[in-house]
Amino acid sequence: MLKERVRHPGLRSKICSADDAAKLIKDGMKVGASGFTPSGYPKAVPLALAERVKRGERIKIDLLTGASVGDELDGVLARVGAIKKRLPYQTDESIRQYINEGKGEYIDMHLSHAPQYVRYGYLEKIDVAIVEAVAITEEGNIIPSTSVGNTPVFVERADKVIVEINTSQPLELEGIHDIYSPENPPNRKPIPILKPDDRIGTPYIPCSPDKIEAIVVTDIPDNVRPLGEIDDIARKISGYLIDFLEAEVKAGRLPQNLLPLQSGVGSVANAVLAGLMESKFENLYCYTEVIQDSMLDLIDLQKVIIASGTSITPSEQGLIRFYNNISRYKGRIILRPQEISNNPEVIRRLGVIAMNTALEVDIYGNVNSTHVMGSGMVNGIGGSGDFARNARLSIFTTSSTAKGKKISCIVPMVSHHDHTEHDVMIVVTEQGLADLRGSSPKERAIKIIENCAHPDYRDMLKEYFEAAQKGRFKHTPHIIGKALSWHQRYLDTGSMKPDGF
Ligand code: COA
Repeated sequence: MLKERVRHPGLRSKICSADDAAKLIKDGMKVGASGFTPSGYPKAVPLALAERVKRGERIKIDLLTGASVGDELDGVLARVGAIKKRLPYQTDESIRQYINEGKGEYIDMHLSHAPQYVRYGYLEKIDVAIVEAVAITEEGNIIPSTSVGNTPVFVERADKVIVEINTSQPLELEGIHDIYSPENPPNRKPIPILKPDDRIGTPYIPCSPDKIEAIVVTDIPDNVRPLGEIDDIARKISGYLIDFLEAEVKAGRLPQNLLPLQSGVGSVANAVLAGLMESKFENLYCYTEVIQDSMLDLIDLQKVIIASGTSITPSEQGLIRFYNNISRYKGRIILRPQEISNNPEVIRRLGVIAMNTALEVDIYGNVNSTHVMGSGMVNGIGGSGDFARNARLSIFTTSSTAKGKKISCIVPMVSHHDHTEHDVMIVVTEQGLADLRGSSPKERAIKIIENCAHPDYRDMLKEYFEAAQKGRFKHTPHIIGKALSWHQRYLDTGSMKPDGF
């Protein structure tokens, strides 16, 4: 078994315990770990590192990953206070709390920017890369597992590499990956992806065997998360969206099989893909970031021809289904580094239809996807900006209210800006859809209030918009203090609705 998994004979002597490998990580180091969503992240070494901290050693590291990872990395290290700085994205409850309590610093980044920050030396060097793999090749190259994320750039830039060979990850994953690393400017060539199914790189992450300092064998499985139930709100949003896409085809603005789809994270995103199952669309292509259960459903129904992403992010049942049918899915799924899956050049060239989720949207079309009431971090911007800014069609979905209707997700002014009015073409809630293309700010406000706001808040928004238009500046009318008072009112009273509404 080991010969199949560690094919470079010289490297077999590097096999050691997780405890020994974890000793390579010292206080103050910058650690780049594999993983993108709870898929393909190292588990045994971070668990061993956390044990050392529990025993009283002082270790605080800067932790870089592809995106969010599972509890065995983010969760355990946050709970023992071993993270000084975290980037570029997270989702785990313990790390979120850690960040919001100010115990560690967090840099929320566009996911296509993070690898460039490493490449360009903006983050200094990576001391150690910890990489989950299904195998190491005869030459010492690394075959990743269920995600690629930032692993190629971490391996390229790290002083030392620790490989976790995970035997719970099937060897059949070999061949699903397509690893391509762009050169730095001024030598960067066009990325030669002309279609979502183009393979342009190698099936492994290039690595010099001299860099591999330790190999740990483990069988801890990916700690995947359950998906939220598809509720009535998500179903309605998905319905409006699919009607809209059908109308775009009818108007001749999209081909019959649409253009490559990108679908964001969360329950609404999953519902939108599920809605495509019942739609009449066929022969679809996806150029996206994460491949969730509903994407596997679409592949099974032969509605999706190719799904290109950087990570397989299924539920527990989805993971079993994926493992049981790897050879079939391997012909339909390509896993790329996130600097390629989220690359603006490729997204623009392919004409991607980007569908992402907002926490709140303001009347002029600005979107907040990350901060509750302007201050509390939820997950991060992830790849939503990479896609929204460069998409052929940029769509944002949200429920019209949150927290039992105490919050309106359509507000006069967002409490934090992730996506500006310039990058938002379509807004959809369970109330309806606002097509903002070609609309001025005031035209957008009318469409968003009329089509997307919940009836409980529509009059309040209209009143605000009318009052704002009496002010001095008529282009994007605002009464700043009043606009943000909606959020403050929620923080003070537990509801955005004032007395009388
Ligand atoms: N104000 C305050 N809280 C709000 C809110 C608002 N306007 N809207 C929603 N919330 C709360 C919800 O109540 C929920 O809280 P809870 O966990 O305490 O119940 C939480 O925020 C998440 O909302 P939910 O409706 O469950 O969202 P979701 O699962 O559809 O995810 C995002 C929505 C925005 C958090 C998620 O899509 C995200 O992180 N997006 C940014 C990254 C991204 O888009 N990546 C994809 C690129 S490929």
